Amino acid sequence: MIKNNIFIESISKNFPPCLVLESDKSRCKISLHGGHVLSFVPAGSEDLLWVSSKALFETGTAIRGGIPVCWPWFGPHPADASKPSHGFARTSSWRIQETGMENGAPFAVLSLEADAASRLLFDYAFRLELRIVAGEHLRLALTTHNDDSRPFTITEALHTYFRVGDIREVTIEGVHGTDYIDQLQKNRKMFQNGKVTFEGEVDRIYGTTEGCLLRHGRKSLKIDKEGSGGTVVWNPWIEKAKRLTDFDDAEYTQMVCIETANTAAGPVTIKPGGRHTMSTVIAKEA
Ligand code: BG6
Repeated sequence: MIKNNIFIESISKNFPPCLVLESDKSRCKISLHGGHVLSFVPAGSEDLLWVSSKALFETGTAIRGGIPVCWPWFGPHPADASKPSHGFARTSSWRIQETGMENGAPFAVLSLEADAASRLLFDYAFRLELRIVAGEHLRLALTTHNDDSRPFTITEALHTYFRVGDIREVTIEGVHGTDYIDQLQKNRKMFQNGKVTFEGEVDRIYGTTEGCLLRHGRKSLKIDKEGSGGTVVWNPWIEKAKRLTDFDDAEYTQMVCIETANTAAGPVTIKPGGRHTMSTVIAKEA
């Protein structure tokens, strides 16, 4: 029997609730704090996403794990270091704009609009929509609408934390022959030869519009994307994990971030009345 459910689940008192999209194909949980996907479990599978055992579920704080929405800037603010890392979308309260079914899969559209607080950080009228379709695969589309009378420029990322068995056995295919910016070497430009492997901290921005394949053990995930000129690959390894209070020292072995992004290397300018969509599809292959 096919069951399709879309419902609200509370995490704790004084914290925005989650929206759950459930069907015979998968179960997906999205926090309205940040418009943040916390979990995506295809039927018969484990969660494809990782959330830190020390993640903080507090207003004003980003949740460590899942899929934070980095917007309207990725990383540090380009001109003002006092502004929050990765923008404010991941710490804002989103609203549910629409829910329904699309080709047998439950979907939701969450949205975030300019208010007095966002104006202090990004002084434009905007509407941000995140469309999440949870079928056999997970589809996310992040659309930025410029509702202002002036053009604005953004950088952004769907900062996906994937769950892996052991980072030392992870490979990423699909970026061979691509230039990347090494954020650990003062943004030095490098060239990827072969697969990406992990033997220490990695923090790179690949200049690719193509998707990639994440392999770990006998499992593989296909990550496709559109409207994105960069893919960020990040693992903090042990020393950085120790510095992050919401990250258990040993848990760096269990995650890797592969982020569908538009970074400072290729920012997006949107005209008044215009819009831009960046999307990704995460599909389990085995
Ligand atoms: C990655 C960046 O996208 O996010 C890293 O490339 C950064 O440099 C990481 O450390 C985590 O950022 P934050 O703000 O969530 O700790």
